[in-house]
Amino acid sequence: MLNNLFPNVRPRRLRKNKTIRNLVSETKLHKSKLIQPLFVSDSNPEKQSITTMPGQFIHSRDSLFFEIDELQKLGINTIALFPNISQTKKDNDGTEALNPDNFMCKLVSEIKARFNEVVLVTDVALDPYTTTGHDGIIENKDVDNDKTLKALEEMSVNLASAGSDIIAPSDMMDGRVGKIRKKLEEANLKDTIILSYSAKYSSSFYGPFRDAVGSQQVEGISKDSYQMDKRNLNEALKEAKLDLDEGADILMVKPGLPYLDVIREISSNIDAPLFAYQVSGEYSMLQMGIDKKLFKHNVIPETLISLFRAGSSSVITYYARWVAENYDNISK
Ligand code: PBG
Repeated sequence: MLNNLFPNVRPRRLRKNKTIRNLVSETKLHKSKLIQPLFVSDSNPEKQSITTMPGQFIHSRDSLFFEIDELQKLGINTIALFPNISQTKKDNDGTEALNPDNFMCKLVSEIKARFNEVVLVTDVALDPYTTTGHDGIIENKDVDNDKTLKALEEMSVNLASAGSDIIAPSDMMDGRVGKIRKKLEEANLKDTIILSYSAKYSSSFYGPFRDAVGSQQVEGISKDSYQMDKRNLNEALKEAKLDLDEGADILMVKPGLPYLDVIREISSNIDAPLFAYQVSGEYSMLQMGIDKKLFKHNVIPETLISLFRAGSSSVITYYARWVAENYDNISK
């Protein structure tokens, strides 16, 4: 078939030079579509590097402010904040997450007071606060869905009241988006955006993040009874539809690169903004490969573009800052 068309059809005409390639390009990597995740310690006075995430840091309060300021100047205005909480503040139930004056709530209001243009995304899940590193409350050797929901509702209202623009339930409990939305409405927090980790797979790519947050302490921790089974695609659609019906504003797929088909499926079938999270393991894999000179930095825009091409409308990536810093010199 195609043979008959040649030479009338020559796809290479449209690849002739950069200007033409730009004119016909279908996807764009724009820095306004990137969200930078940042880690912050509740107690450390200095910023610390993260061995399993070269180039990323657990910030102190002061270095965090400095970083946000620099990110803003570079044009990155959306930050996803993750706390590293002292061991002494953790327990089985993640009680500290429910304290309206906890480290995160105070920090969120401080950031919002200092930087009025920053959009803050805060995670709703108990893992930074539980001794088990699990996202919920353990009862009879499993995370208890309904008990955890109550905690998540409270945590959401606290974070939203403190000033989080976007709250992001990352826990994968059933029914959480509906419960949280109802509580937010009751608390008159009408404009708080819910970014739901709808299709969050039980993935081995989260390992470095758990080092950074300090949620890795229990041997052989498995989140298989609440995070999604990596073999399933239809189930991702079901989760996404449920979250949208329950009141989510934005949906998310996570991890990114191994789940491009899931991004494509949800973006083609569901009419809502869809974000992808290029997670810690994806970052570290690329960064260690770059550091070892296996690849050039071009792998960064290549992977990010693939997430947009699959149908993401924005991407949470540890490379947001890098993209902004190298904006003029990368293919986008
Ligand atoms: C916690 C949470 C995790 C990530 C985001 N929120 C880890 C987990 O579920 O254990 C992973 C992010 C990353 O790996 O970069 N609920």
